[in-house]
Amino acid sequence: MKKLIIANWKMQLSLKESLELAKQSVKKIKGKNIIVLCPDFLALPYVGPILKGTNLNLGAQDSAIVGRGAYTGEVSPLDLKALGVKYVILGHSERREHLHESSLIINAKIKVALTGGLIPILCVGEKLEVKKNGETEEYLSREIAHSLQGVKIKSASDLVIAYEPIWAISTNKNARPMSALDADAIHKFIKARAARILKKPVAVLYGGSVNAANAGEFLSQKNVAGLLVGGASLKIKDFSHICSL
Ligand code: PGA
Repeated sequence: MKKLIIANWKMQLSLKESLELAKQSVKKIKGKNIIVLCPDFLALPYVGPILKGTNLNLGAQDSAIVGRGAYTGEVSPLDLKALGVKYVILGHSERREHLHESSLIINAKIKVALTGGLIPILCVGEKLEVKKNGETEEYLSREIAHSLQGVKIKSASDLVIAYEPIWAISTNKNARPMSALDADAIHKFIKARAARILKKPVAVLYGGSVNAANAGEFLSQKNVAGLLVGGASLKIKDFSHICSL
């Protein structure tokens, strides 16, 4: 079965580097999986034409809570759609933490992105202290319920969830990937919670210190529908390997 592999380039590259990586990606990434590259906003209009006609899809890292209006500094999902963007990452833990994005805001973003014809990739995940307290499932249930409240989708492929335990994201102190077996169990739990709200079995991806060596183990788990890759997506050799699995 095809897996969904998302590259989250974050704000790690200059415009020039983003274009170079996009060109390399077109050359090197092969295989049957669905691949999505998410450059920063500034690079989108330049990366889009490079990916056009290839098997690589364009994704954004965020979008606004409304389609149009007086929202200084925001980027409309309508304009993203017009640029050829297909997927949009929403509620990434870095935005929740550094920009204080709440599940309420993320919920509004999901609804407007869906209306605009984008496929939201809703990120959820717990901090280390939540895990240590044994409260992961309660925490995720709440995050999912708040983020998806009132969200309606027509088909299971209209929305994707990415489970990214915050303590596993490579840029965090002492980060280490979750075990693939633990990930599978949590994915099963997330899938069930989301299905109760959405009435559809949406795909759940794993993210957090995925690399060329461990990606295969995650992808072989029954409930892991794909990966959200940060650091390793910037290294073309590693990322093309991950995509080929
Ligand atoms: P990482 O990042 O793969 O570098 O851990 C994942 C993410 O934050 O989306």
